Amino acid sequence: MRQLILSSPYGAHEFKWLDVYGTVYALKGCFGQDRLMVADPHALQHNLNSPKFGRAPILDNTASLLFGEGSVITASGSEHRRLRSALNVGFTAAAVRGYEPVFKRVAEKIVDQLKGFFTATDVCPVFSPATLEAISQAILGHPTQELGEDFVANNIEIVKLTASQSETHILADAIGSYLATWVWRAAIYMPTTGAAVARKERSFATQVGGRIVQEKIDAAKQGLEMPDNDLFSLLLNPNPSDNTKTPSVEDVIAQIALILIAGQETTANALAFGLLELARHRKFQDELRAEIHSNRGANATNMAYENMPLLNAFLKETLRLYPAVPQPDRIALEDTAIPLGESITTLKGERISRIPVRKGQLVTLAIASYQRLASRWGVNPDEFNPFRWLDGKTNQGDAVGPYANLLSFLGGPKICLGWRFAVLEMQVIFCELVGKFAFAEPDGEPPQPRLMTALLPMNSKGERALPLCITRVL
Ligand code: HEM
Repeated sequence: MRQLILSSPYGAHEFKWLDVYGTVYALKGCFGQDRLMVADPHALQHNLNSPKFGRAPILDNTASLLFGEGSVITASGSEHRRLRSALNVGFTAAAVRGYEPVFKRVAEKIVDQLKGFFTATDVCPVFSPATLEAISQAILGHPTQELGEDFVANNIEIVKLTASQSETHILADAIGSYLATWVWRAAIYMPTTGAAVARKERSFATQVGGRIVQEKIDAAKQGLEMPDNDLFSLLLNPNPSDNTKTPSVEDVIAQIALILIAGQETTANALAFGLLELARHRKFQDELRAEIHSNRGANATNMAYENMPLLNAFLKETLRLYPAVPQPDRIALEDTAIPLGESITTLKGERISRIPVRKGQLVTLAIASYQRLASRWGVNPDEFNPFRWLDGKTNQGDAVGPYANLLSFLGGPKICLGWRFAVLEMQVIFCELVGKFAFAEPDGEPPQPRLMTALLPMNSKGERALPLCITRVL
């Protein structure tokens, strides 16, 4: 587990095991626990969609602790479907296009901040508040500063807490997986820093979210014109011809902590990794900048992001190499079998195309390994090469994930609700930044991708950081 989770860079062992043992192999976890690593596309598709597999209890319990029982991430079955379909109104392609002016404002603010930097600058502390700002404005309809200083300070604490990982964490997770759900529920009241931060986050989210929701309801009652371009206004102003999907006010408030956290660091880290690769591939960076300038045209506000092949190939390649959650665990809920796309040879020399598993078997969805399969993504899958998306050499095969068949946004019913939001946000921010600045790697030891709660760039001191030399070009 130490090799799997703590290696620097992430995958130093896992990607070798993929070469040696193939797309499905067994390993021993803490306390001799039997675990299966699965990177076979067909098996992944099955695991993500079959009701016979659920999220591992440790992940479910942590999500309940942080986000509460009413959030979509903790819901299952018909309750999950109801919440998804109610919330989806704010995450369709059309709704997400409505958030573009917010993303543009956020991108311009980042440009203003980076303008002042002359030496090597760590971009992480710039991206985290920026992505929080995008969610705050697009989802709640208010700038972050209106959420209150305490709320923002607690959010910084959450970001810090999620940027740590250690042998003790691995052991604690293993012990935690044996604890009953009531123990987890009680954990929120423990006198630890983590529990205090989680308690505050939930209470701030309920207070601040409740206030904002009430303001919107009062405005509607008084006949005041409501803005219709933030998620909360959309949810509270449902289409009168289809009120079957209308969420209750409590439903809406229960999603705030989740959405603010789920969409912040994931997007901030993807932006950071993207710039890191551009700094390492200066020729590609120049080509991308030329594409951005030629698309900007007379009207700087009207970029046709979907028609920019280099921009989209770059985004896919960044998400392929740096999935935010590279190895989520699933558990078999009953005795069953995992079908494989390619048969394997067992230790007894038998060829099998289905792996029988017992109820309680832990299965790790080896997303980072899947995203490095040469059979799917073409030659040299460990290399950053956006052109693999343009030369027709990626083999899409089984439909597994929503965006370019990647699993960075997961797949199946629990797929990321905000994936279109994140894609457009990154398209807008990358265009603004790469159009105006050139990025280069400073001297010194480069940061490495490390697995904390999510995959993030870390310096040799174990701090989340991505220093870059930034030069204004426009
Ligand atoms: C690059 C950016 C992002 C990545 C890589 C990402 C990735 C993911 C992943 C892997 C999950 C599944 C987690 C699990 O089930 O354990 C997830 C769920 C979720 N994400 Fe994202 N996410 C991103 C951005 C966003 C944004 C911007 C939002 C909202 C504005 C968002 C909202 C959600 C929500 C609400 C869920 C829970 C969905 C459910 O359980 O039905 N995400 N995301």
